[in-house]
Amino acid sequence: MSEITPKEILQALSHVDDPDLHKDIVTLGMVKDIEIDGKKVAFTVELTTPACPMKEMIERACNNAVKHFIKDVEEIKITMSSRVTTQRDKATVLPNVKNIIAVASGKGGVGKSTVAANLAYGLSHMGAKVGILDADIYGPSIPIMMGVKGQQIRTSPEGKMIPAEKDGIQIMSIGFMVAENQPVVWRGPMLSSAFKQLANDAQWGELDYLIIDLPPGTGDIHLTVAQQIPLTGVVMVTTPQDMAIADCRRAMSMFRTQGVSAPILGIVENMSWFVPADAPDKKYFIFGKGGADTLSKEFDVPIIGHIPIFENLRSSADAGVNPFGEHNPATEHLKQITEALAQQVSILNNVPQAV
Ligand SMILES: Nc1ncnc2c1ncn2[C@@H]1O[C@H](COP(=O)(O)OP(=O)(O)OP(=O)(O)O)[C@@H](O)[C@H]1O
Ligand SMILES: [Mg+2]
Repeated sequence: MSEITPKEILQALSHVDDPDLHKDIVTLGMVKDIEIDGKKVAFTVELTTPACPMKEMIERACNNAVKHFIKDVEEIKITMSSRVTTQRDKATVLPNVKNIIAVASGKGGVGKSTVAANLAYGLSHMGAKVGILDADIYGPSIPIMMGVKGQQIRTSPEGKMIPAEKDGIQIMSIGFMVAENQPVVWRGPMLSSAFKQLANDAQWGELDYLIIDLPPGTGDIHLTVAQQIPLTGVVMVTTPQDMAIADCRRAMSMFRTQGVSAPILGIVENMSWFVPADAPDKKYFIFGKGGADTLSKEFDVPIIGHIPIFENLRSSADAGVNPFGEHNPATEHLKQITEALAQQVSILNNVPQAV
């Protein structure tokens, strides 16, 4: 009887494709640390994100491929790990951050901050290193949603601001710098310098994902963000309402305009429907139906997901509670959205960069 070799294992695993990246996992360099002990084999599969929605499917396919191609094998141990990919290797601004994702909308109040906060909670819950930057200088809601309102920002000996922290997520907001009830009346240049300070003068650690919560619309801060920080991509948030869709269309066109351009990773449709807790067979489309689909087709970008109206989502946001740590009916939707976003980032990072 011949011994099992690493080459045989690689050959077997070369039949397993990453469905998003359209290549086999051996060619993609995802197979690591092969160990063989008689008829027992062990190896690691390194995914491009800990939030990979294909994780279980890939693990099953590896198991089946090894069993199918290596008849002698008696035991297979697969470790699923991840190393988040990036196209920011040579970035000069925020070089420790692998991916920078802005959350934007046209209309106000559609749920940008809710989506931004929950993407941060979700990615961190799944094992990524995450930061969130509140760029809504006029109405900072991230400190409330992340449960760190009123925290005093400390400064490092080098004079850098140390981000606040919640559940391992690093948080920066203009809300930390201005007193509550004090209106922020700043014009363009001050706005941009406040944002630059938040982004550049903060001591961000190594991050897999930095989420930026933008204010609504298409204003000065959007120009500043786009010009100061090359973004990995933008997530658009809209409700299905015609008015919100029209504003979202304008904002999406802005991100396709030279000087402000950034890849649009996809659309989150928020407040898509409402199912009353005491009448679970009823489903109300309060803000209309199908709006995000229209935009998705028009701009040829995917729908990242839908979030229904949940009272618990509002209350957990108001209380600054992490919905991933508790039983919350919204969590399943938030998990799906987190995974779909991480998937889009991995797909984008796999496309060779234009030189
Ligand atoms: N799916 C949802 N179910 C229930 N409440 C929601 C949902 N999404 C958002 N909300 C609530 O709606 C309000 C507006 O949401 P949020 O602050 O996230 O919007 P925004 O787009 O960031 O607003 P702004 O334009 O003012 O920055 C908040 O009170 C939030 O808790
Ligand atoms: Mg907001």
